[in-house]
Amino acid sequence: MLKTLLSVSAPLIAAGACNPDQNSPPADLTSCPDSSLFSVWRPRARFIAPEGWQNDPQGERLYQRGDGSYHAGYQCHPNHYDWGNISQCAATSNDFVYWEDMNGWENPKTIWPSEIFDIRGVFDGSIMKNGWNGFPTTIYTGTFPGPLGATTNESEGAEMQSIAYTEDDGASWIKLPFGVGNNPIIYQWPMDNLTGFRDPYIFLSPTLSNLSGNLSGATGDHFLTISGGVHGLGPRLLLYRQTSNADIRDWTYLGPIISVSAGSSFSSEGWSGNYGTNFETGSVTRLNEEGESLDAADAAAVDFIGFGAAGGRGGSHADAWPLWAIVTYSGPANGSIVANIQAVGPVDWGRAYATVPFSVSGNRSVLVGWAYEDDETLALAPQRSYQGSFTLFRDLFLKVIRNVDPDTPGLDSPGNWITRTETDGSVSVLTLGQRIVPEITNEYRAKSTVSTPRGATFGGSEGFASFETQPTGRYYALRATLTWSGSTNPADMLIAGFRVLASDSEWTDILFQPANETLVIDRSHSSLIASYGDETEVAKLRLWPILNGNTFTMQSLNLTIIVDNSALEVYANDVAVVTTRVYPWLAVSTGAGFLVLPPSSGATSSVSYDHIELWDGLINAWPQRPLKTSKPLIDDGPLPGIWGLWSGV
Ligand SMILES: *[C@@H]1O[C@H](CO)[C@@H](O)[C@H](O)[C@H]1NC(C)=O
Ligand SMILES: *[C@@H]1O[C@H](CO)[C@@H](O)[C@H](O)[C@H]1NC(C)=O
Ligand SMILES: *[C@@H]1O[C@H](CO)[C@@H](O)[C@H](O)[C@H]1NC(C)=O
Ligand SMILES: *[C@@H]1O[C@H](CO)[C@@H](O)[C@H](O)[C@H]1NC(C)=O
Ligand SMILES: *[C@@H]1O[C@H](CO)[C@@H](O)[C@H](O)[C@H]1NC(C)=O
Ligand SMILES: *[C@@H]1O[C@H](CO)[C@@H](O)[C@H](O)[C@H]1NC(C)=O
Ligand SMILES: *[C@@H]1O[C@H](CO)[C@@H](O)[C@H](O)[C@H]1NC(C)=O
Ligand SMILES: *[C@@H]1O[C@H](CO)[C@@H](O)[C@H](O)[C@H]1NC(C)=O
Ligand SMILES: *[C@@H]1O[C@H](CO)[C@@H](O)[C@H](O)[C@H]1NC(C)=O
Repeated sequence: MLKTLLSVSAPLIAAGACNPDQNSPPADLTSCPDSSLFSVWRPRARFIAPEGWQNDPQGERLYQRGDGSYHAGYQCHPNHYDWGNISQCAATSNDFVYWEDMNGWENPKTIWPSEIFDIRGVFDGSIMKNGWNGFPTTIYTGTFPGPLGATTNESEGAEMQSIAYTEDDGASWIKLPFGVGNNPIIYQWPMDNLTGFRDPYIFLSPTLSNLSGNLSGATGDHFLTISGGVHGLGPRLLLYRQTSNADIRDWTYLGPIISVSAGSSFSSEGWSGNYGTNFETGSVTRLNEEGESLDAADAAAVDFIGFGAAGGRGGSHADAWPLWAIVTYSGPANGSIVANIQAVGPVDWGRAYATVPFSVSGNRSVLVGWAYEDDETLALAPQRSYQGSFTLFRDLFLKVIRNVDPDTPGLDSPGNWITRTETDGSVSVLTLGQRIVPEITNEYRAKSTVSTPRGATFGGSEGFASFETQPTGRYYALRATLTWSGSTNPADMLIAGFRVLASDSEWTDILFQPANETLVIDRSHSSLIASYGDETEVAKLRLWPILNGNTFTMQSLNLTIIVDNSALEVYANDVAVVTTRVYPWLAVSTGAGFLVLPPSSGATSSVSYDHIELWDGLINAWPQRPLKTSKPLIDDGPLPGIWGLWSGV
């Protein structure tokens, strides 16, 4: 994402006033020295930069290496807690679980601004595995001084696409030189008045190859999207095709594959977020029930397009939605192929953005995104001295919910699903499925102390019921299946879920509210520290009525909750995911238990919890790093206006 710069004044350090004792309520923590709270909220069981600022997984600069291991690049600004001089840092893994910094944690930078075509910042890019001279090659957005972003009048040349390749499997990258026939490789805007022109995403698509024939004379196997929009009109996803397989530098513009109106939404009922004004981090994939399907003839597969929709969230949540759409392709018409949108939904309803999938083993589409902090005023950013992490890695698949009652109200309204009538006449609901990659869940469970809180049936008057065996810290996972009975009228069903990171003074509630089909994370009591965000996260989630002969039963609710210190990630039925941040202060705020509340209708019914497991401990994803990897913060001070670059924090 393109970060909008906030102007932040340097914190004053009142010597001696800092009291970091977590056994008493927080004093004025802003007087604590840089890095002194580094460990307090730091996630441990996931991908996170060793220190400093981190944002997007370098787009799509994630790839599976020749030996089957994974390379993950990310935007970074070491020694600084805010966005600036944006570069790529990287790490590698054999399993998505344990990571090793590229070239060591002290200096994991692998690509940085150095040339006229990227001097202002190395933005997102993606990888072609057999690119320049057969080496893994990234096509990335380089930026140049001048107005940049949807709220400015950006001009051609502020963002352009360039090439770098690696001869040492990602440890270092060689940029093609500046000049005609070299970098930048895509400079020219295909239309006037763009609001953005970035995040090239390279992909294979037998479907599009088949459909486009040799449209505009391009015949290469690879396609590429560039994300952006047009002033006053709205977001656009621009489609290119490699002109021929012989040259990775030459791409032919085929037209806008998605054109939507600024500020509009696919659903008027909150299922689909909002398209905003400008797209970022676009991506293309094709899924069946198993995972990725690159087979154009696979009739069971569905085409998906992902995009970050910037400017559509009323200023909240980085003012951006990470969205996916189910599409059908048609064309060529008017010289272009068009993706017809059938359904739209958020990849993540919480504080995650720049989510991108990449292809694994030719049959998996694995997605990861940026999980940002909730410290809008950067009140304690110097004390943490890092910001941001990744979400967990997730397998994408086509989720098919069979035997849905065809009389379900709203079944045919625009939402984050489509319907399919099966050959036996039954109706299925199809949507994006997401689950944490099994490599991670298996290892979390194997390395944790597993307890099984006793299952129970609740009537709604219980409120909070603590587990008998409590978590010992702030790294744990919870799994359970909740089944409602006594009523199938959502207004009369109990509100149920869990409370986590709880003490008498701080707690975070994860609840499904059947009456309004929402899964919420109530953070109003998550932290005694007032400067942290406390907005309730809200995801739309429907429990579908499933036909069984002439009667129907409501779907159950499978919850997987990962507590990785401040990073809280909730998965519901593989279809609604919410990543957010919670920053409890007190050392005792670790507890967990059931939470059941009566519906506002006052009706009596019940909910039962089954298959409950608490995994206490999780893992350390960075076994090679020392415990504390903070580094002294540098404040560059304001940079000369001609650069129009970044603030100094
Ligand atoms: C940006 O990062 C590169 C690589 O670390 C460094 O050489 C350069 O000095 C940095 N530029 C600024 C303005 O901080
Ligand atoms: C962009 O250009 C338009 C038309 O020339 C002008 O009205 C507007 O003020 C400009 N916006 C910015 C942010 O410069
Ligand atoms: C839109 O593009 C036209 C043609 O390039 C240019 O003359 C005009 O100034 C642009 N408007 C804005 C607001 O940038
Ligand atoms: C496109 O796909 C159809 C059916 O999947 C196939 O019959 C046809 O040969 C394909 N065309 C090309 C040009 O690959
Ligand atoms: C492109 O397709 C046209 C027919 O649609 C054909 O005449 C032409 O030879 C093709 N060109 C290439 C390079 O395949
Ligand atoms: C093709 O262009 C015409 C005229 O601009 C427009 O009316 C029509 O909707 C376009 N068709 C498609 C499939 O985009
Ligand atoms: C995906 O491909 C890998 C490697 O070829 C194979 O081991 C695995 O079984 C495949 N998975 C599925 C679901 O087909
Ligand atoms: C959803 O339902 C809960 C409980 O019935 C209620 O407190 C909340 O205000 C509702 N939210 C919306 C957005 O309607
Ligand atoms: C919940 O998980 C169980 C076990 O994996 C599965 O059989 C069931 O279909 C899931 N239910 C829903 C609603 O996803």
